[in-house]
Amino acid sequence: MDIDTARRQLAEIGQDHLLAFVDDLPPEQRSALLTQIAAIDLPSLPPLIERYVKSDGHIEIPSDLSPATYYPRDPDSETRSWNAAQYEDAGASLIASGSVACFTVAGGQGSRLGYDGPKGCYPTGCVSGKPLFQVFAEGILATERAYDCELPWYIMTSPLNHEATVAFFSDNEHFGLDAERIHFFAQGTMPSFDKETGKILLAEKGKVATNPDGHGGAFRALVTSGALDDMRTRGVQHISYWQVDNPHVRVADPVFLGLHATAPDSSGEMSSKMLPKAEAAEKVGVFCESGGKTVIIEYSDMPEKLAKETDAKGNLRFLAGSIAIHAIGVAFVERVVNGDSLPYHRAVKKVPHVDLGAGERVEPSEPNAVKLERFIFDAVPLAESSIVYETDRVEEFAPVKNKEGVDSIVTSKQLQTERAARWLEAAGVEIPRRSDGKPDCVIEISPMTALSAAQLRRRDDLPKAIERGATVEL
Ligand code: UTP
Repeated sequence: MDIDTARRQLAEIGQDHLLAFVDDLPPEQRSALLTQIAAIDLPSLPPLIERYVKSDGHIEIPSDLSPATYYPRDPDSETRSWNAAQYEDAGASLIASGSVACFTVAGGQGSRLGYDGPKGCYPTGCVSGKPLFQVFAEGILATERAYDCELPWYIMTSPLNHEATVAFFSDNEHFGLDAERIHFFAQGTMPSFDKETGKILLAEKGKVATNPDGHGGAFRALVTSGALDDMRTRGVQHISYWQVDNPHVRVADPVFLGLHATAPDSSGEMSSKMLPKAEAAEKVGVFCESGGKTVIIEYSDMPEKLAKETDAKGNLRFLAGSIAIHAIGVAFVERVVNGDSLPYHRAVKKVPHVDLGAGERVEPSEPNAVKLERFIFDAVPLAESSIVYETDRVEEFAPVKNKEGVDSIVTSKQLQTERAARWLEAAGVEIPRRSDGKPDCVIEISPMTALSAAQLRRRDDLPKAIERGATVEL
């Protein structure tokens, strides 16, 4: 794009301040700026700014919300009984035949964790200090061995952390995986806007301030990067999706994949795992039904009255919380990208930028900018029929999101030990526990040792007991 075209197109949408310093820039920075501007879908911006920046992007909550039905963790539950073995077999066949790919979204900025690097490189193993990426890599390797199959792994980065992520894998010899089966691709970005004026911010005199376009950007990025074509070439039909911050995820859960692909009430397009919410105010999206479709309502959008409603037994009526673990059909990704696009959500954040007057860098002390992001779960209601499967908090959700407090490395490590202790106890190993019931030891079980309690039970090399105060890596 030449400078006159850029100036004209930007002026048409009131954003020509992006070229305020262009005459001062050396030629290579000038052309980089023009390339960056050319990549932005400029005509799409004015309605987005009106809706999400100048007003609050309010989303109408459907008036007909009812709690979503789900497959209970206990297949013999009185609320719904189902044949877990049948679905496990179906899922195992899919995994073994190479019809499943793993997909980790790792393009976020991890600002709450405050770690200087891609979040997947964060040392997380409670004994080993293994990074999240290694935990997943071992899960994939162990699954490949268990099913004698190939499990390709797709990792979505962002332009801000792509190179660091790829370098981390090659520096660590891809953690023992075949590099040919790991496919990295960067998601798209959106410009960041001044929250008062709707003007796009300049990160530097020659650089537009941008942010990754949300985990919902995964759909488009899977297509535009060629990852989806690569999946088709390999014969992949279903994607096992998870977020980079949860070391407890089952990278390919046969029961869940079997339900997703073969349950009579699933269209095999997009399925989800859920956890019973710990309390009404827990900050997780809630699975609901509306207009015959499964939808996820963000915690901040969920009417408080509904969130607090209880049933006759005193349990929350809207119980099913989302932990962002999904199974997604390859064909569905294409359908979403070719059809109605996912909506945006606004997040008000601090974004450093260049002051247009003096040209100096401003480090805001208060949130000054609106970032626009798409969310993966907005695709759920686009599926013809989407199922929800209950899992257990200790088994599958130990996220590292915050520097401290809830969902921090401290709580994740406690959950890692708790899960390991449970699995060992189920295998007959004695675990020292304190008076409050918490394990009085630290234990980490590598996915290479066991992917589940059932697999651990089959091992014949387990200790008889763990000593009080011990730190053990198995
Ligand atoms: P979070 O919502 O926790 O956001 O992302 P984040 O950017 O990682 O962290 P904060 O909010 O800045 O602290 C949940 C998952 O979605 C991925 C993240 O990498 C994480 O796996 N994600 C998020 C993307 O891949 N792209 C995005 O644009 C946003």
